[in-house]
Amino acid sequence: MPIPVTNAQGIREGLLAWFEANARKLPWRLRYTPYEIWISEIMLQQTQVKTMLPYFHRWMKRFPDIRGIARAPEEDLLKYWEGMGYYSRARNIHRTAHALVTDFGAEFPRDLNLLLSLPGIGRYTAGAIMSIAFNADCAAVDGNVVRVFARLFDIAAPIQERESQRIFWNIAERLLPMGKARSFNQALMDLGALVCTPKNPLCPKCPLDTLCQGLRAGVVDLRPVVRKIQDIVPIQAAVGILIHNGKVFIQKRPPSGLMPHLWEFPGGKLQHGETSKQALVREFHEELALTISGVRKLALIRHNYTRFRVTLHAFTCKLDGVSQEPVLNAAVDGRWVTFGELDGYAFPAANRKLIEILRTRHSKLWDEKSCKHKP
Ligand code: ADE
Repeated sequence: MPIPVTNAQGIREGLLAWFEANARKLPWRLRYTPYEIWISEIMLQQTQVKTMLPYFHRWMKRFPDIRGIARAPEEDLLKYWEGMGYYSRARNIHRTAHALVTDFGAEFPRDLNLLLSLPGIGRYTAGAIMSIAFNADCAAVDGNVVRVFARLFDIAAPIQERESQRIFWNIAERLLPMGKARSFNQALMDLGALVCTPKNPLCPKCPLDTLCQGLRAGVVDLRPVVRKIQDIVPIQAAVGILIHNGKVFIQKRPPSGLMPHLWEFPGGKLQHGETSKQALVREFHEELALTISGVRKLALIRHNYTRFRVTLHAFTCKLDGVSQEPVLNAAVDGRWVTFGELDGYAFPAANRKLIEILRTRHSKLWDEKSCKHKP
């Protein structure tokens, strides 16, 4: 449910005027080239401005443009990244530079969806490049912005929840002043970094103090609400793509409990001391009275639900002997369907990811006639 955004015009004006007077002088704010915005944004993921600045200057000297990155060996990039950690960020920069040279003439496309297709560029980074480099009307919500909004609108929902993320992005989109996204998004970022800080925020210096619902309610220190790590339960589960006569078996979850009414591939949680393969064989036996064989690793899928961090060990398998019929001990319905028919059923997100992996890596399975057990 979207929340009401009251005083939108006052918030916009207050922020823009504050930014005009207080913007940090940062090197990528001199020329606003897409290339510098991109590199600064990737460096700023997990690294503070103060720490990344010397890396940024060194990087720009060594790699002054996108082609320079694409030409360089990966080890060079890693060397210039050394000390900042999260080296997959540097590898993705390399991959993206190659993609830009190959497909876009070594320029950034001015298109949100094309940016999102590039390695290491997610919704926030794409929005930041679009708005900061191109001044396009796109929102960009990072941790600083979430903190500002959680206080300004007194949002008590834990910020990690999918619904909360929807709320924060929705606020950002509704607040965005058309034609001023560059200043507005950076104003939010700087306010979060300089005034609306995680600890000891400087509320008397805030341009939005009279509009801040969290300040009025005396809960600034209690916002944002972060769900405690120990409240998020890790789950290891095994799941099987059981293929027989060109069809795959799916089952429907009961109407109560977790993810009611959704369809899924059979499987279940690993028990203590059990391997994922052992868990799969046991679950098929317990839930469906089926004996499976030919169990092969397919993929490892990670997905965060609101309260669970799920690691799904996915396998393909077949029936051990052809004359077995599934007995529904846990599910309320079960069907053999073709791979093409899977899109007609509602699956939990982790199962959906699995279907997408099957579709991209094993597209032959979607051709019914050629459907064999071997993916
Ligand atoms: N934090 C993340 N991106 C930023 C940017 N472009 N300017 C200032 N702080 C940031």
